[in-house]
Amino acid sequence: MLSKLLFIETLGCAMNSRDSEHMIAELHEKEGFVTTEDYKEADLILINTCSVRERPVHKLFSELGGFNKHKKKGAKIGVCGCTASHLGEEIIKKAPYVNFVLGARNVSKISEVLHKDKAVEIDINYDESEFAFKDFRSSPFKGFINISIGCDKSCTFCIVPKTRGDEISIPDSLIIKEAQRLVGAGAKEIFLLGQNVNNYGRRFSGDHEKVNFAELLRRLSKIDTLERIRFTSPHPFHMDDEFIEEFSSNPKVCKSMHMPLQSGSTKVLKDMKRGYSKEWFLNRVGKLKTMCPEATISTDIIVGFPGESDEDFEETIDVMKQVQFDQIFSFKYSPRPQTEAEHFTNVVDDEVASDRLAFLQSLNNEIVDTNHEKLLGNTYRVYFETLHRDGHVAGRSDNNIVIKVNGSEELLGQFRNVKITTIGRTILTGEVIA
Ligand code: SAH
Ligand code: F3S
Repeated sequence: MLSKLLFIETLGCAMNSRDSEHMIAELHEKEGFVTTEDYKEADLILINTCSVRERPVHKLFSELGGFNKHKKKGAKIGVCGCTASHLGEEIIKKAPYVNFVLGARNVSKISEVLHKDKAVEIDINYDESEFAFKDFRSSPFKGFINISIGCDKSCTFCIVPKTRGDEISIPDSLIIKEAQRLVGAGAKEIFLLGQNVNNYGRRFSGDHEKVNFAELLRRLSKIDTLERIRFTSPHPFHMDDEFIEEFSSNPKVCKSMHMPLQSGSTKVLKDMKRGYSKEWFLNRVGKLKTMCPEATISTDIIVGFPGESDEDFEETIDVMKQVQFDQIFSFKYSPRPQTEAEHFTNVVDDEVASDRLAFLQSLNNEIVDTNHEKLLGNTYRVYFETLHRDGHVAGRSDNNIVIKVNGSEELLGQFRNVKITTIGRTILTGEVIA
């Protein structure tokens, strides 16, 4: 029998990428689909959407129009992910040719909704089928594993708790079993995923022994042939001493920390309901830098949050100068439906927000350039994961520096010592020395 073809486009975060893997596996197992890169030949077109900021939502409808115009006759179109969760039926009203809508919390139902035309499945209540670790993996070298779903926080700017529901931790025995399976299949690195990973263990689906995130890291690191553990995203509020100490002392835990600051102003942080102050954030960075000087630190920053004054923005710049982040993901505030901040009236002028974003990004470029200059001539143990067409193979150091070398696929899935020979802003080039 000829396989049916699936085209899937994934927007947004790492959780979405993992959800897409889950749907690909489900559709392969139950419906015989294989993936294609060309939507025009696909029997099923899926968009796994993001709704964290507004722009991707506009993009969704223009893209859907394009898909509908050029799709193969009889092909179905499904909208999945966070925008599916929050817009629901509206999607089918706006784009009546869409066959079904499947929320971020419901991806394990993909093969059911496929057969129900105009189905809208967006329930955010707990559903154990989400815990099934489906077997499709986009990389054989690295295994992404969900450790919790949903988010219990109520950051006033963020739509995620509305689209992904309450936070529930997946029992550690299932996570460990999945990690063992992936390592058995050749992955040397696992990547733990959750909106709030270091809040792991606050609530399980049923009775469960008390296991927090530090303990989960300890248990996972006992898997013999597992070499590296990464995770995202931790929350600064939950960065207690035990967590930072485990991060620093466990040799299998990669030394790169994402610390989403959002704002350096304690007043704005309060309005955002982030649960920490500027001082707490700097205190945690200080502890981390003392215990683990080799760690790189990345962050997320929002500019132009309602009520952000020039002085508040200066506080963010001050934190940037003090911390010298290795990487930042910075965004202009985008009001989102069903969030508290949507109703805040002290809106920041768009031009002011754009200027702040530009200033912050140019400061970050300077910091990154200075940080990178210090790396020239250093040697790192690199785990190679991607082959580029131009004869380069790229990988990451333990502390998440992306380095490429001349080479071929024999390097994939291998560790090598690499000396950095050329520096750039986003990528560094090196030579394999052993
Ligand atoms: N759980 C993650 C956040 C997920 S959203 C965490 O706590 O880090 C990813 C990032 O998008 C956030 O860290 C924030 O910087 C940004 N973001 C979320 N909502 C936003 C909004 N309404 N406008 C602009 N940026 C936003
Ligand atoms: Fe969003 Fe805050 Fe949770 S940013 S995902 S509500 S920790």
